[in-house]
Amino acid sequence: MEYKNLLLEIKDGIAVVKINRPKALNALNSETLDELRHAGDAINANKDVWVVIITGEGDKAFIAGADILEMKDMNPYQGMIFSQRGHEAFAAFENMNKPVIAAVNGFALGGGFEVALMCDIIYASDKAKVGFPETTLGIFPGFGGTQRTAKLCGLAKAKELIFTGKMISAKEAYEIGLINKVVPHEELWKEVMALAEKIRSNGPISMGLAKALINKSLFLDMESALMLEAKDFGLCFGTKDQKEGMTAFVEKRKATFTGE
Ligand code: CAA
Repeated sequence: MEYKNLLLEIKDGIAVVKINRPKALNALNSETLDELRHAGDAINANKDVWVVIITGEGDKAFIAGADILEMKDMNPYQGMIFSQRGHEAFAAFENMNKPVIAAVNGFALGGGFEVALMCDIIYASDKAKVGFPETTLGIFPGFGGTQRTAKLCGLAKAKELIFTGKMISAKEAYEIGLINKVVPHEELWKEVMALAEKIRSNGPISMGLAKALINKSLFLDMESALMLEAKDFGLCFGTKDQKEGMTAFVEKRKATFTGE
């Protein structure tokens, strides 16, 4: 599929998905959400991709939210469909069996911050500003923000961010547990690539299984979750990667994983 609003590059096992609407600060319209979902599904099915990075085109914004121009005249039904479109696009990445990194290179607001929060790891530029301005527009975060935020930083901080609509610095977001690491703006890409390459060198099947288990841990009771953990832990022993990883350790060499 030809994308109008995304740039997709795959190299050495790493896929970079760039939201490419810089004139609108990469705001998410329906078309971009559909392309994002398509790209997520295609990346998930692509065995050559082991790690994914999501970022925004340009130097100013990661994503400045859902497209306000498109939402302005929506009726309640259209609003619901738009929210569901976002949920489906994000699910393609959240549920994929590959680690997804957000490289937050500027404003990550509303739906844009929600994109970052559905990623597995968030690295941000020290110039980035994040937040949920939706309540200043008479709506609330509708791409998962009411759900994912509190799970990461607790109910009180999530409510404060959503009720005030205030923007906070990447450093403040880091301090409340919403961001993994803040780096100098000029070094963001280097740091994100180093992280992606580190993850790329590990066993992909084991990471995919671990990602699903960690995500499920938020919703399952301990007993059921540990049952699943034991089953998936066992599955690892049916992979070539487990044999290679442990043989390499015993032979005192670096493992080379094939994803089999
Ligand atoms: N939707 C549509 N267009 C947007 C946009 C958005 N979310 N954010 C920015 N743009 C557009 C602006 O309209 C402007 O376009 P024009 O040049 O054609 O006028 C262009 O991007 C540049 O923006 P600004 O001139 O406003 O740039 P600035 O530097 O003065 O301000 C900003 C930057 C603080 C990010 C400001 O653009 C802003 O506040 N944007 C809106 C942020 C927002 O409210 N996001 C939440 C959206 S609602 C949502 O996301 C719902 C949900 O959860 C599903």
